Amino acid sequence: MNAAGGALSGQVAIVTGAGRGIGHAIAMALAREAATVVLAARTRQELAAAAAAIREGGGTALAIPTDVTQDAAVEAMVEQANAELGRVDILVTAAGAASFGPVVGTKPADWDAILAVNLRAVMACCRAVLPAMIRQHRGTIINIASVAARRPIPGAAVYTATKAGVVGFSRVLAEELRGDGVRVGVLVPGAVDTPLWDTIGNSPARSRMLRPEDVARAAVLMASLPPGASLEELTLMPAGGIL
Ligand SMILES: NC(=O)c1ccc[n+]([C@@H]2O[C@H](COP(=O)([O-])OP(=O)(O)OC[C@H]3O[C@@H](n4cnc5c(N)ncnc54)[C@H](OP(=O)(O)O)[C@@H]3O)[C@@H](O)[C@H]2O)c1
Repeated sequence: MNAAGGALSGQVAIVTGAGRGIGHAIAMALAREAATVVLAARTRQELAAAAAAIREGGGTALAIPTDVTQDAAVEAMVEQANAELGRVDILVTAAGAASFGPVVGTKPADWDAILAVNLRAVMACCRAVLPAMIRQHRGTIINIASVAARRPIPGAAVYTATKAGVVGFSRVLAEELRGDGVRVGVLVPGAVDTPLWDTIGNSPARSRMLRPEDVARAAVLMASLPPGASLEELTLMPAGGIL
């Protein structure tokens, strides 16, 4: 898996949400390109399994159990990555959650958990890696938004607000970091067949969704472009057009 000649050889990538779904597929794909991968999420067994799979393929992985909604945990995770691996070149923020329902049926307090993981934590993770990336004058941040940020889907107002927030935050951060050698991009997928849909009723047909590996290919492309090029927004849809 971890061919020394991979496109990301010598680079350290932090992937949040790496235990399953999109983050897991991205972590495996970055490892295949010879990046050293830091796996961050809350479920220890899933992180351990992902790290073992990367190592079995000849790659290097460091599992750091982290709740990204806890600022101190995010800081500690990035500090540990820097201390043990010496640098941070890539950040992929794939930790996230979804819950759907009409706004009229919710209370403001119901929104807090999803805002925390889908928006605030993305901002906190980006902020935490910036000192290392600016010091290195090199870095690529890939935030995972959603096509929900582009198309109004009834029942998805709160989820959409978090994803539109991620798009806006990423755009401004990209401008702020242009002189620092740090690229910021946002990946905007349509529906992807992951465990995220397991508890959501009325989901679109999963067989028509993207595979997590499709999103991983897009992330590898964003991370492996030459430093002079920055893929800042990439919309990836199932060819059949499903959201
Ligand atoms: N699936 C889709 O159709 C789709 C489409 C567009 C965009 N997206 C976005 O892509 C991202 C990943 O989605 P997915 O489908 O891969 O979801 P998933 O299969 O449910 O996986 C979510 C991952 O995020 C982690 N996570 C959740 N809360 C966390 C927290 N507080 N701290 C650290 N890690 C946390 C989970 O691990 P733990 O629970 O162990 O912490 C898990 O590894 C989300 O932002 C989602 O909105 C998904």
